[in-house]
Parts: sequence; structure tokens; C-alpha cells
Amino acid sequence: MGLVVSCRVVPWPRASTGFAFGHMSGTIKPILSAENLRVEYRPTSRKGGGPKVALNGLTLAVYPGEVFGFLGPNGAGKTTTMNVLLGFTPPTSGRATIFGSDVRDPSSRQRIGYLPELTYYYKFLTAFELLRFYAKIFGIPAAQREQRIEEAIQLVELGAAARRPIRTYSKGMQQRVGIAQALINNPDLLILDEPTSGLDPIGRMEVRRLIQRLKKEGKTVFFSSHELGEVETVCDRVAILFQGELKALGPIASLMSPGETSLEQAFLRIIGFTPNEESACPISPLSLAS
Ligand SMILES: Nc1ncnc2c1ncn2[C@@H]1O[C@H](COP(=O)(O)OP(=O)(O)O)[C@@H](O)[C@H]1O
Ligand SMILES: [Mg+2]
Repeated sequence: MGLVVSCRVVPWPRASTGFAFGHMSGTIKPILSAENLRVEYRPTSRKGGGPKVALNGLTLAVYPGEVFGFLGPNGAGKTTTMNVLLGFTPPTSGRATIFGSDVRDPSSRQRIGYLPELTYYYKFLTAFELLRFYAKIFGIPAAQREQRIEEAIQLVELGAAARRPIRTYSKGMQQRVGIAQALINNPDLLILDEPTSGLDPIGRMEVRRLIQRLKKEGKTVFFSSHELGEVETVCDRVAILFQGELKALGPIASLMSPGETSLEQAFLRIIGFTPNEESACPISPLSLAS
């Protein structure tokens, strides 16, 4: 494998990106920020060994209204970062804020919707029933509950299927139920961990369209992915994480070098992947770090 290039970070917001921040330039506060985050996990085996450094000095900021793609191969530290942002994992050092509040403060989570990497829903429930359950957990008053559920169902375009048991849904539809669940508290920020993972091309396209719709609704979306084709079409900016370290950050076009025509090419260069020409079946770059 070739040498990993140093981190390339493009300042943001920039007038030249075409993102609708011009009138606010200089005054925009990030909706989400991480400053020099480090996460070490305790050694898992009794044989010793040092702690596992899952995140090393991650600094990034996400601004209101952005769709931000958080990219990296398996094991890069994407879920760990999200777990810190959601207050599930305390950072070893560094700081993270959401809406200006430290993520250790539960108030930072009031305006977040979250789709975990792995979801399981009771398949005998309909989407409507499941969403009613979540609406109750969120303490949404009974008078507003049904309307909120209808709005979430409409946003994810489940339509009449919302009255059918989840067991009859395709994987893409199930993922949209997950996103509807994340929308039930009408959040301003959505944190989606690998929302297109395991979906077929149609399912991926549906989730992509949904992310675009959420942006139109004024939501900020921070999502992780290792499926670069998805990201290219929906993200305002991306960050590339590799082995716990930020390798690049900026609008996709700014990360491309001359001659590169796809995000995948830029991604492989940025993470330092050089295919082994002698091998008929090169190692997948997306599993390099796992
Ligand atoms: N609870 C844990 N204990 C020990 N190591 C962990 C734990 N969670 C994740 N890791 C390790 O930290 C690294 C980052 O994992 P993760 O954040 O899940 O990456 P990603 O979501 O990018 O695939 C991986 O090497 C993973 O094995
Ligand atoms: Mg993950």
C-alpha cells in the first residue's frame, strides 16, 4: 500500500461552493462540531496489548442545511464518531458539540434524529404502529402524535404501505421506516449511520432521493457511507476518515486531483490505496482497515 497523503481540508463555508450561505458568511455557527476527538477502546483480549485507537484527533464542523457525507472504509471510526456525537461513547480526549451544547449534555440530543447502523423492528407491527410507539417514547403529546406520524410517513413516501406489517416490506422500505423513526421528533439534524448499506440499487436510489428531500425540508443530514456513488450525488461536503484519522474534508470537487473523474478515484488516492497489479483479485479498499 502506498503512503497515506496528508490531510486535505478545504475551509467552509466558502462563497465559491454555491451553497446558500452567502448572506450569512462569517456568522454561521456549526450545527455539529468535533474538536480534536480521540477515542481509545480498552484492549479486548486478556493477553494485553495497548488500547485500540479508534479515533485520533478528529476535527470537523457541519453547518445548517448541509448534507455531509462521512466516508471511510470499514473500521475507519465512523460509528465511533457518531456514538460520541450521540453521547453513547465518551471521548478519551477532545470535545464535541451539537447546537452549541456539549454532547455530554442531554439537551444537545433534543433536536437530533438518529438511524443506527443496525436496526431491528418488530415485523408484526405496521410502520404506523411502530412510529406511534416511538412518538410515545419521545413524549410527543397525543394531540400531535397522529399528525407527526403522517408527516414522517409522507416524507419517506411509505404511503398506504404504512398500514401493512413491516414483514411485507422490502429492505429499502424497512430502511425508510428507520428514517421515519428518526424523523418522528421533527429533528433539525439527522445522523444516519450507513443508511444505504445492504440495499439494492433501487433501495439506494430511494434513500438518496429521501436525503435530497430532507435537505429541501431544511434538515441538516450527517450520514456515513462507504458507498461512494451514493455520496457523489447528494453531498454538499464530505470528510474522508481512514484508520481513525481525517484525511480530507471539503466539497467533492475540491478533493479531486487533475485527471480524476470519480469520487472513488479520489478516495482511493486519499486513503493511500494502490492496487496490487500482480493480484488478479485485489483486496477491496473498503475493507482495508477492518
Ligand atoms: N466497543 C469497541 N471495543 C473495541 N474496539 C472497538 C469497539 N467499537 C469499535 N471498535 C474498533 O474501532 C475501530 C473503528 O470502528 P467503527 O467506529 O465501528 O468503524 P466504522 O463504523 O468506520 O466501520 C475498528 O477497528 C473497530 O474494530
Ligand atoms: Mg460503522
